[in-house]
Amino acid sequence: MADELKIAVFASGKGSNLQAILDAIARKTLPNSRVVVVVSNNGDAGALEIARQQSIPAIHKHRGQFSSDEEFAASLLDTLDDYGANFIALAGYMKKLHPSLISRFRNRILNIHPALLPAFGGKGMFGQYVHEAVIAGKSQISGATVHLVDEEYDRGPVVLQKTIPVAPNDTPASLAEKVLKIEHEIYPQAIRLFAEGKVKVDGQHVVIVK
Ligand code: GRF
Repeated sequence: MADELKIAVFASGKGSNLQAILDAIARKTLPNSRVVVVVSNNGDAGALEIARQQSIPAIHKHRGQFSSDEEFAASLLDTLDDYGANFIALAGYMKKLHPSLISRFRNRILNIHPALLPAFGGKGMFGQYVHEAVIAGKSQISGATVHLVDEEYDRGPVVLQKTIPVAPNDTPASLAEKVLKIEHEIYPQAIRLFAEGKVKVDGQHVVIVK
């Protein structure tokens, strides 16, 4: 068995993916894992409230409190150390991580993206913009992607994807709703692969070992 995952969840918004992770831990479908801290750049994030309600440390930290990107990153690293985090799950976190975090947690940071990467990703492709682009591009399928985070937006190796059909009458809002449902399924599943020590990273590829 791999070491216990002590997960720091970074979130900027309502926190439904955080909730899905916590639910999976409670139901024991995500074994060997614990959320040790929730970090947000947004003091009003629903994710912080969810954490507080479950007595999980909820930390509001944003760039404006620091005089440089480096100081901000160092403070985030201190927070991760304070709570013993050994894994990071970005769940709707709207800020790019500083390279010092990425190198300290190399291959230990996941992100969830509401489309099938490598399509419909990159800078500016978040939230409704993703679903608008999928519909404007007349894609017949969309879905969600869990990937490792590297220095480029939405470019790290893919861990898990799930597709859904795009209906002819889908709007960005209806598509977002359907995609969010599958995000809640595959994010805990992807984290579980790490919790069970089943993930090997080979360059730009993730290999799932039995
Ligand atoms: C999700 O769609 C996620 O893919 C995106 O931001 C949204 C976060 O939703 N990057 P929530 O805060 O987890 O409810």
